[in-house]
Amino acid sequence: MSLILGRRFDNQPLVVPWAPSPHGLVGGNTGSGKSGVTNAYMGATAARADTAICGIDLKLVEQWPWRDRMTVCATSTAEADRLLADLRALIGYRSRLLQAKGLRNWSPSLGPWVLFVVDELAELTSFDPDALINAVNTGETNGVIRDGRNAAQIRIALLGSLARLSRFCGITILAATQYPSYEVIDQQIRTQLTIRIMLRVASGEQIDVCLGRGYGKRIGVRSIPANQPGGLWIAGLPSDPEPVRGRAHYLSDDYISAQADRTAHLAWPYDTVFGPALEQHHQALTATEQTQ
Ligand SMILES: Nc1ncnc2c1ncn2[C@@H]1O[C@H](COP(=O)(O)OP(=O)(O)OP(=O)(O)O)[C@@H](O)[C@H]1O
Ligand SMILES: [Mg+2]
Repeated sequence: MSLILGRRFDNQPLVVPWAPSPHGLVGGNTGSGKSGVTNAYMGATAARADTAICGIDLKLVEQWPWRDRMTVCATSTAEADRLLADLRALIGYRSRLLQAKGLRNWSPSLGPWVLFVVDELAELTSFDPDALINAVNTGETNGVIRDGRNAAQIRIALLGSLARLSRFCGITILAATQYPSYEVIDQQIRTQLTIRIMLRVASGEQIDVCLGRGYGKRIGVRSIPANQPGGLWIAGLPSDPEPVRGRAHYLSDDYISAQADRTAHLAWPYDTVFGPALEQHHQALTATEQTQ
């Protein structure tokens, strides 16, 4: 199965695998069309009754128009932490389910495919603005930076763990960033994001991070003009050993609102996706406490 995200420059549809699907990275400067690509993914999965959509959107604007079709749209760091922890619990639950059934891979008969979209990876490592405002207002600034760093490290560790384990459990991560650099994208996470979508970037190093070492020199930053938002290179497709040039479909705000309305009835309620996992996690914790 597959999703159509746009058109390739060889005039074929730009197709990515879906259900099951490898994780994806979307890298590009601000305004290059990253949210356009995440919207193309969400638009293509929204109509599928077998897919639940979750995401982190701390900018409040990128995924919000899809909220009625989403199981969770986390718009604060606290909600983002909750979602990451819930997804990690879901992996534990789904892994045990696969083991119990003697299966290697997820099947939609066991529960929905999950698309998990992070609109800006760098936001996961940023500080909680409410904690900073509170520190300034109360003068209690001691520890706020240290706590913020700890929280960021927990988020990255959770995302790394998700990236390593979630694909076999029917959960696909799509992570976008305007800072595709070796520093911002944790090595452990990057190697798991196999579908690489690169929009306009500013340096050869960013091309190397998005597409793989060596492509910075071969492809060059001018290969996507500034007046072509949504123009992209895509690497990691099972069908193509080399990166492919293309352009994402653009979904207008009106189209997104209408499509979210039309497909809202397909949204998987939170409890049907996460309920059994959280219950099992809770029971395991209680059992551990009782043996201690
Ligand atoms: N595939 C596309 N075809 C045509 N125009 C597009 C396409 N994708 C994006 N655009 C145009 O470019 C603008 C910026 O795109 P988008 O918001 O997706 O960029 P971004 O990389 O997410 O930016 P930011 O880093 O600020 O979030 C859009 O508002 C739209 O006008
Ligand atoms: Mg954006």
